[in-house]
Amino acid sequence: MTIRVVVLLSGRGSNFQAIAEAGLPIEIVAVISNRPQAAGLEYARSRGLKAVALDHTQHPDRVAFDALLADEIEGHEPDLVVLAGYMRILSPAFIARFEGRLLNIHPSLLPMFPGLRTHERALAEGVKIHGCTVHFVTADLDHGPIVIQAAVPVRADDTSDTLAARVLAQEHCIYPLAVRWFAEGRLEINGGRVNLKGDSTSQSVLSTGV
Ligand code: GRF
Repeated sequence: MTIRVVVLLSGRGSNFQAIAEAGLPIEIVAVISNRPQAAGLEYARSRGLKAVALDHTQHPDRVAFDALLADEIEGHEPDLVVLAGYMRILSPAFIARFEGRLLNIHPSLLPMFPGLRTHERALAEGVKIHGCTVHFVTADLDHGPIVIQAAVPVRADDTSDTLAARVLAQEHCIYPLAVRWFAEGRLEINGGRVNLKGDSTSQSVLSTGV
């Protein structure tokens, strides 16, 4: 059995690509971008997937735009909505409509470094371990129930670019895995925590990184 997935993105789309190429039991029924020029839309078209541009600059009211976006998504009848570098804050009404079937990837070990410029901030704080998190989206920005995390070492000579690249390689591993678990019905949210049903597969990845 496959599940229907809608992907939302704003840019490059490398996480979307990793998910699309992972051989998952999913059907990507639409890829939607708030930025018409997003490279991720091009990639979707190259795979023959439905690519939709909904330009937020044409809809200055966030709530109205999110309602339009939600209607577009619902039209594709998704079981799961995947945020893959969707760079806009979603309104509470939008989140309420998709709660429990809305996943995001964030480039830090949440709850550390919610928000933007996570790699720069990690370097500025001098943390020695950094990483990424896949979580369910709730109205609490970057704080929803955690599905899986991957950690990488921070090296003395790292720049935000080298650190971002090391983290991104892990994003491409854990996001497809999280989507697989969702598709297999193995994710159970209990008291704000995500339990993985079935076996003892770990919900953490410790990478020695390169
Ligand atoms: C990733 O770093 C992801 O963690 C963040 O936005 C970036 C998207 O990259 N949410 P891509 O568009 O998937 O290449």
